[in-house]
Parts: sequence; C-alpha cells; structure tokens
Amino acid sequence: ERKAVILAHYYQRPELQDLADFVGDSLELSRKAAATDAEVIAFCGVKFMADTAKILSPEKIVVLPDLDAGCSLEDSCPPEKFKAFREAHPDHIALTYINCSTEVKALSDIIVTSSSAETILAQIPPEQKIIFGPDRNLGGYLSRKFNREMLLWPGVCIVHEAFSETELLKLKAQHPDAPIAAHPECPPAIIDHADYVGSTSGILNFAKSFPGDTLIVATEPHIIHQMEKALPGKTFIGAPGADGNCNCNICPYMALNTLEKLYVALRDLQPRIEIEEGLRLKAKASLDRMLEMASGTVGKG
Ligand code: 13P
Ligand code: SF4
Repeated sequence: ERKAVILAHYYQRPELQDLADFVGDSLELSRKAAATDAEVIAFCGVKFMADTAKILSPEKIVVLPDLDAGCSLEDSCPPEKFKAFREAHPDHIALTYINCSTEVKALSDIIVTSSSAETILAQIPPEQKIIFGPDRNLGGYLSRKFNREMLLWPGVCIVHEAFSETELLKLKAQHPDAPIAAHPECPPAIIDHADYVGSTSGILNFAKSFPGDTLIVATEPHIIHQMEKALPGKTFIGAPGADGNCNCNICPYMALNTLEKLYVALRDLQPRIEIEEGLRLKAKASLDRMLEMASGTVGKG
C-alpha cells in the first residue's frame, strides 16, 4: 500500500531481517537508498543510517521505527568539537566513518564505511595528512595495515569495545580449529587474534567460504541469523564479553526497532527523517565522494 522498500542492517532482530526487501552492510544500504524508486524507505537500522538514506534520496519519505536508535560513535563526536579539531589541523583532510551525525558528515571531506575504507584510503596520496574519526579502533586498524599515521578521534563502539580478550582465548581453547572473524570496530587486542577482519558483509562472505565447521564471530551477534540461514550445518559462536556471555554484545540502539514499531511507522509514515537542505547538500558532497571512490568495492571486507 505504501510503495515502500524495507532496508535492514545485519544487526537488526531476525524478524526484521526476514521481512526486509534488502539486508546489507552500511555501504550496500547507502547504495540501495540512493538507487531505489520506492516512494518510502522504511529503515531498520540506526539513525545515522536513515539520515544517510534521506541525504541521498531527499525526495523519498524516510521512516525509522524508533528515532532514539542512535550510536555511541555518533554520540562521541559532537559537531562543534569536531569543527574545532578540524580548525586546529588545517593541513589535514577529514576521512570520516559513516557512523556519525549529518553535521559531522557536512564537516568532512570523504566518508567511509568499514567495507570501503581500505579502497578509499589507498587512493589518498601518501603525503596527505588525515584526521580519522570518530572510531579510533577502525582508524587504528587502517593505520597499522597501511603503515600510515592518522590523527584519530577517540570514539568507540560500545558493542565491539565490550569483547573480552581473556574470554575469547578461553573460547578459542575449547574450539582450537575454529577461525575468528572480527569487525574492525573491535579493539586491537581482539583484532590481533582474528583470522579475518572486515565489514558485516565481509564477515558474512567469509562465513560462507571458510572450509571448517565452526566459526567464532566477533561482531554484533544478530548477523549470525544470516549465517545460520545460509549454512544450517555449521556452528557459529558469538565472541564473548567480559562475563563470558555474548548477550552484552547486542547493540542496544539497533534493538530499539521492533516489528510493532515498524508497522506503526509504515501506517503513520512517522517518525520521519527531515534534514535542512543546506546541511543536506554539504553532507551529500562527502557521501558522494565515498560512493565514487568506493565504486570497485563489492561485498569486500
Ligand atoms: P558495517 O555493516 O558497514 O560493517 O557497519 C557495522 C556497524 O557498526 C553498523 O553500525
Ligand atoms: Fe553504533 Fe556500535 Fe551499535 Fe553499530 S553496533 S550502531 S557502531 S553502537
């Protein structure tokens, strides 16, 4: 009735993933939002993702089932502080993770997602100085992998920060042949033990191709739903938090969206994302740069 497309991130509740027209990582969802000819985008994800859909498709109605579905990375980077930091380093460009506010996107030069960051960083001349925000773990991972210094904003994802190295090693001792797949939002102590590091889509592709029968997954555990659907014979174990229980790694923001709230959002076309046009155009410039520079990135880690 609404001529709506339902887009969902892999960290959403299984029933929302199953109802969605498309499930994907942040880059894939941005591309879908930019390309859809639906009249309404119902975004099952967090607010910065729905904001991105509105920035790229301003003529569409974009609804988010729960407007309080934020992100600790977005919260860690208030626009006025980010602006002052940029002004203190005028010879640096701002390469910014998509997990930030529209205002911070408008203050940035190029946006990246975890699946496009490496492709994009490889295109920036080595002598160019870079500020990377707001995720210090993703920034640190890129900095080590590319052997390239970057000024890192000190934000973290509360979900990935909660994995415990001690508990991970205990789990690994019980499953010595199981590889570990980790998201680059994890702290270095977790990434150092990973056999594969990549975005949610990258981790899912790794799960579909690794030869063994058990995989340890160090990212938000709702992605395991897609793995169990695709590979019912294999075992996927969520990496544990400090209490040895993986439930503390459920994203509390993503979990705010429910089937009932999605129904109400589609029925009432509320809560709706609205962005002031001048701000939207500034934020769009840095997102467009990402989409151009990431054009070769297809489901890569
Ligand atoms: P990706 O799906 O792009 O890997 O992002 C993960 C994430 O933290 C989304 O909030
Ligand atoms: Fe933000 Fe982390 Fe939740 Fe993703 S998983 S929305 S980065 S708090």
